[in-house]
Amino acid sequence: MSDANHPDQPSVGRRPVAAADTVRAQRTWWDAEAAGYRSEHGTFLGDDRPGSDLVWGPEGWREADAALLGDVAGLRVLEVGAGGAQCARWLATRGAAVVATDLSLGMLREGAALEDRRAAADGGSPRTPLLQCDARVLPFADAAFDLVVTSYGALPFVADADRVLAEAARVLRPGGRFVGSVPHPLRWALPDVPGPEGLTVTHSYFDRRPYVETEEDGSVRYVEHHRTVGDWVRLARGAGFTVEDLAEPEWHAGEAVWGGWSRLRGELVPGTLVLCLRRA
Ligand SMILES: C[S@@+](CC[C@H](N)C(=O)[O-])C[C@H]1O[C@@H](n2cnc3c(N)ncnc32)[C@H](O)[C@@H]1O
Repeated sequence: MSDANHPDQPSVGRRPVAAADTVRAQRTWWDAEAAGYRSEHGTFLGDDRPGSDLVWGPEGWREADAALLGDVAGLRVLEVGAGGAQCARWLATRGAAVVATDLSLGMLREGAALEDRRAAADGGSPRTPLLQCDARVLPFADAAFDLVVTSYGALPFVADADRVLAEAARVLRPGGRFVGSVPHPLRWALPDVPGPEGLTVTHSYFDRRPYVETEEDGSVRYVEHHRTVGDWVRLARGAGFTVEDLAEPEWHAGEAVWGGWSRLRGELVPGTLVLCLRRA
């Protein structure tokens, strides 16, 4: 969930970006943005709530209400693109054995600081393991997990989402589930602004070229990759998943604004898509 609105950006547009350039840009971007992201969005994500929270997107739809995961007690859970690991912390408080992973050391450091704070507050209960890795190349054995989750982590930020889904399928036991949220594909046709001007379709939904911010030297500063709803279904099936649900959260966040996500837009069109998949 990036705001993707930065006044000092040298150039913004849509153009293809290779997988390796994408990963390089993501690591640099999220390392640099980690502290700012947490100070801007941490409260929304549950940093101030006991036991943290699992929020599926800027609509403020919480897992406590959505119940997409069911009872997680005793499950082996992997979070990819975990950022500050708010989701992992929430799952751990409900009895799951969770490992939180992310590409960005900066984001994981924010998660470690949150773990320090929680451990100090509750007398030193076990820490949630945090591990730096690329979700496209997971350092785990086959069938090591019952559930893989992500809230806006990794999937929108890779050129090769098929690899992320294939890795998730590999580390899941047969019958295990992947539940992960991404920006709703419809969002890509609308300007990324929260007011009325964000309600007019200005761009083709079918343009799969990623949104790219480019430095003056031509390097990629920030990139988000776009897929349509049908693309997500095909990617999931190609990785060996059955699609159980495509959840589209309605607006629950009051007057909160996150980039282009707002009550105005969120009450009219979906802004998040939650992929609910089962390994066949
Ligand atoms: C919008 S943040 C979401 C973080 C957290 N899930 C949340 O809800 O705040 C996206 C996260 O995806 C991570 N990410 C980007 N590319 C990744 C990759 N290839 N593998 C793993 N994580 C990645 C970023 O480092 C960042 O922490």
